[in-house]
Amino acid sequence: MRESLWLYPAVEIVHIVGIGLLFGSIAILDLRLLGFSKSISVRRLASHVLPWSAAAFLLIVPSGFMMFIAHASDLIASPVFVLKMCLILAAGVNAALFHTAVFPSVGVWDSEEMRKLGPPPSARACAAASLLIWISVIACGRLLAYF
Ligand code: HEM
Repeated sequence: MRESLWLYPAVEIVHIVGIGLLFGSIAILDLRLLGFSKSISVRRLASHVLPWSAAAFLLIVPSGFMMFIAHASDLIASPVFVLKMCLILAAGVNAALFHTAVFPSVGVWDSEEMRKLGPPPSARACAAASLLIWISVIACGRLLAYF
């Protein structure tokens, strides 16, 4: 990674493409959960976008790991890198909470009759947290170049 002129930037482009796919797919679902575009079924939207969010990790994690091994000792000592990893963990916990405690009741609040009321406060809270956490992860990733 360090010896080749083109390898690091090529891997970084893969990382960024993955980030675009991950954040794009997650943000679309989060905005729906916040109450936008109520005519669209949450279940149908989730079944369309979530496989793309999962696929994005196949681009992000190996590329992130490859960039990490090029500067491992600097990154381990960087508070920004540690914060970024903690935030990714927090995003995982938030997603797990959503899928175990909120999504199982989607059949009720996403039904034809209930849909116009919008998702429950618990779904909105998870969506708001998700947007905030992923934007912070992106900010930490970008700040790694400076701190
Ligand atoms: C899962 C979501 C992730 C997001 C949203 C994310 C976000 C970012 C962003 C926005 C950048 C800056 C790219 C640029 O400015 O060119 C970046 C760089 C980087 N990321 Fe990630 N990242 C993620 C996961 C990971 C993982 C899992 C690792 C390591 C195991 C990692 C390691 C790195 C490294 C080493 C850099 C390069 C910093 C540099 O060369 O300046 N990332 N990331």
